[in-house]
Amino acid sequence: MASNISVNIPHEELERQRSFAECAAPILTARFGRRPVAFVHTFGCQQNVSDGERIKGMLSQMGFCFADSADDADLILFNTCAVREHAEDRVFGNVGALKAHRRRRPNCIIALCGCMVQQPQIAQKIERSYGYVNLLFGTHSIHRLPEFIYRLVSGEKRVFDISGDDTIAEGLPVRRDGSFKGWLPIMYGCNNFCTYCIVPYVRGRERSRLPEDILREAREMIDAGFKDITLLGQNVNSYGKGEAHGVDFPKLLRMINDIDGDFQIRFMTSHPKDCTVELLDAMRDCKKVCRHLHLPFQSGSDRILSQMNRRYDRQTYLSLISAARERMPDISLTSDVIVGFPGETYDDFKETLSLVDEVKFTSLFTFIYSPREGTPAAKMPDPVTHRQKAEWMAELLKLQEGIAAERNGALVGTTARVLCEEINDGGMVFGRTGGNVGIEFAGTADAVGHFATVKIISATNWILTGEQINLEE
Ligand code: SAH
Ligand code: SF4
Ligand code: F3S
Repeated sequence: MASNISVNIPHEELERQRSFAECAAPILTARFGRRPVAFVHTFGCQQNVSDGERIKGMLSQMGFCFADSADDADLILFNTCAVREHAEDRVFGNVGALKAHRRRRPNCIIALCGCMVQQPQIAQKIERSYGYVNLLFGTHSIHRLPEFIYRLVSGEKRVFDISGDDTIAEGLPVRRDGSFKGWLPIMYGCNNFCTYCIVPYVRGRERSRLPEDILREAREMIDAGFKDITLLGQNVNSYGKGEAHGVDFPKLLRMINDIDGDFQIRFMTSHPKDCTVELLDAMRDCKKVCRHLHLPFQSGSDRILSQMNRRYDRQTYLSLISAARERMPDISLTSDVIVGFPGETYDDFKETLSLVDEVKFTSLFTFIYSPREGTPAAKMPDPVTHRQKAEWMAELLKLQEGIAAERNGALVGTTARVLCEEINDGGMVFGRTGGNVGIEFAGTADAVGHFATVKIISATNWILTGEQINLEE
């Protein structure tokens, strides 16, 4: 594609899919002798979870109800992830276990979708070696699920389809997993091609939803009682690039912030190269935007950052952190780090340790590098053993544990506005602060889904404990 201009799937195509859903519904009921039952399991990131909610929306349209386990299901669908080898191994393990299910219920539909199966070599492997999988579709054709199911129940033995291009399916039905905390995708795909990463290959090029479509969905969520909305994209802060409407991410944040209602806004993930002063200003100015920035740095070494094709250096990253803290001294910072990128030396790794020590993140998501077939890094010499990398990782975790304990400890004595999420195993109310730190306190189940003001009385490196001062309506 010469430009980044986003294209929505034509309305007629979505109407066509709706008719497939209507036609499939009675055939499904007849085939299973009851209202069909689906088990949908999503692996991977929030983007996949959000896709899963749209997949469940379409299945509802076809008359499916939902089960929490595969045992009694008529349709089993795994929505897969490919970001690391471990993610793929888990999917293969789970798919292998379904062979017995197929024997018990020969009529059932066993289906795979998502990032992992968008890779042609994986789709082929499943087609050849997993004969009991009868439906497979990629990330570009989610909206065609009704058609695929219709074809299966009207006689086709197997439907495998990883075709499609970088379009946006606007207006799909959504069946959200939660009732007060929800995901709102604002863009899809990634153009960055970090050398270790499979995402651009399985999710296609960056494309942004129109501001009016995002605002409409945000209003619907707020009207339905959602209190915490996370704007999603692989690189949210490049939202709107190249689009004629001229709404960039900081502007979009301000527009959502202006919607009436008592809710808070989060967003992920931001890329340092697109993190602008305008974005930090918008965060500071928007009262509904949580004081939390997830800004992956991946490595503290300039040599490795360049090998990763990250397009920023250590100093630029540190300047961004300072600019964020200048505007919002209480901001909570989190990040992603890769340990053991091909060719990384212990000296490079020490740069990662020193960056972590300098920034003092609230928490970190840490990953040992995993080679992904088809990415440039998978062909780079990688002499450091996995065992050695695991030792580096332990060193990093130990450092971060101390920092998190210190950061959380500094919160003791302050109060926080907390969105209460659930009653945890210990019978306490569990919620999260605006900075996304977990906190528990004594309270009752009627707090769930509401904001509470909580005084923080103690802290560990991973959770705060508090006392409820006030519970909002
Ligand atoms: N678009 C986001 C998230 C991408 S995937 C971003 O750019 O930050 C989430 C994280 O997984 C990445 O930030 C990276 O730290 C990690 N990751 C991606 N590919 C990986 C690989 N091949 N091996 C190990 N970690 C990886
Ligand atoms: Fe992967 Fe980099 Fe894109 Fe994130 S920005 S999805 S790490 S290629
Ligand atoms: Fe995995 Fe795809 Fe997300 S590879 S991390 S599910 S975009």
